[in-house]
Amino acid sequence: MKFFADTANIEEIKKIKKWGLLDGVTTNPTIVSRENKPFKEVVTEILKEVEGPVNLEVISTEAEGMVREALKLASLAPNVVVKIPMTPEGIMAVKELSSRGVKTNVTLTFSPTQALIAAKAGASYVSPFIGRWDDISSEGMQVVEDILTIFDNYGYKTEIIVASVRHPIHILQAAKLGAHIVTAPFKVIEQLFYHPLTDIGLKRFLEDWKKVPNPEF
Ligand code: E4P
Repeated sequence: MKFFADTANIEEIKKIKKWGLLDGVTTNPTIVSRENKPFKEVVTEILKEVEGPVNLEVISTEAEGMVREALKLASLAPNVVVKIPMTPEGIMAVKELSSRGVKTNVTLTFSPTQALIAAKAGASYVSPFIGRWDDISSEGMQVVEDILTIFDNYGYKTEIIVASVRHPIHILQAAKLGAHIVTAPFKVIEQLFYHPLTDIGLKRFLEDWKKVPNPEF
């Protein structure tokens, strides 16, 4: 499973890269606003660091404006993927962009049938938002399972990015289902390393090593 970093923070991106876990980056207007820097500056830093897909979102709500913005964003680097919101105008824009060879990610997807029309329009990626479903007491991961079944039934090449990830269990569930990609905040990716039994085990090994008469390697 590929890991995308759901952040625009360059230090977080660099750290995830050092861990060898960085397959791409996703941003959205909220994530970019947290950096409190000009958009161009944020994007330039990210594009310098990341070899995989870098997802940047359009702001227009009409197809024509979305296509115009998407072409501008896509011209920044060959690895830019343009995030388009799941609306009728958005799907029209995706259709146009896919015919022009621009990679798209249909964002704010909450149902399997939304994902189906995104795939029919030729989206490269679709992003079901899991945590926001869970926030309103529903089973977000069920949407991922249904999308996987639908895409498999018809052989759609659109990849699923499990988004709005809140904790490691979301990553576990996404991996068990066989989702192509998970995008997670830095904190959640970092949490994947830790287990109390690992800490206890390592402490014991280091203490026992002191009992070895000649510990030279
Ligand atoms: C995905 O691409 C989005 O940026 C993100 O996962 C949204 O997550 P949130 O629900 O935590 O805002």
